[in-house]
Amino acid sequence: MNNFIVGNWKMNKNREEAINYIEDLKLFSKDIKDTKIVLAVPFTLLESVSKSLNGSKIDVCAQNMFYEEKGAYTGEISPAMIKDFAKYVIIGHSERRKYFNETNEIINKKIRAALKHDLKIIFCIGETLDQRNNNETKSTIETQLREGLNGLNHENIKNVIIAYEPVWAIGTGNTATSKQAQEVHEFIRQLINDLYNAEIASNLIIIYGGSVNPNNANEILSMKDINGCLPGGASLDPSSFIKIIKC
Ligand code: PGA
Repeated sequence: MNNFIVGNWKMNKNREEAINYIEDLKLFSKDIKDTKIVLAVPFTLLESVSKSLNGSKIDVCAQNMFYEEKGAYTGEISPAMIKDFAKYVIIGHSERRKYFNETNEIINKKIRAALKHDLKIIFCIGETLDQRNNNETKSTIETQLREGLNGLNHENIKNVIIAYEPVWAIGTGNTATSKQAQEVHEFIRQLINDLYNAEIASNLIIIYGGSVNPNNANEILSMKDINGCLPGGASLDPSSFIKIIKC
């Protein structure tokens, strides 16, 4: 599968902006076949976006969640609350790791909690520029994967999509070359093969994120182990998101 496209709006858009966008995307998506389109929207838009996407082929995704079921955690959102509106949740995005100190251990707790509620997980991993320059890309990816997926069995892992997002490529305009991305995607698939088995590894969806835009999406998506992409900035405008989907 090389057609799993997730638009990550991050902390953007109010309700009116979101609804106008969705109308454009719904019109376009009617004729789309064999491509999974997912929109990761802020918590405040989960309900309105899921209502307006009702009956369409586009799925809704949350951008984060807390691992506790409920209780005195002011400002947090539980997996069950997300499940009311969304099928997917992003966990471990590098902006969560960087600005909110999320560790691999916290991310693992979130992944396990999301699984309990039958949410599909878009699990983000990726190295910083320093790590790449110090030749630590593969060791960083391996640690993030092993610790993030700790305790997940062969059934659980089928609900996980992995997003390789090199931190130095996010929001910078410096996308990884298709060769750099393919090399890491192949490494991830091999690790999943070692941790689980060959069938799980070959069916695993691994998407690339980091400055994907309509001009570079074709080349990135043509690589063997790249099954889709996760544009952030380029998903904010429906016409550029649609151009990426067309790739
Ligand atoms: P970007 O963001 O496309 O703006 O680089 C991607 C992401 O962080 O998911």
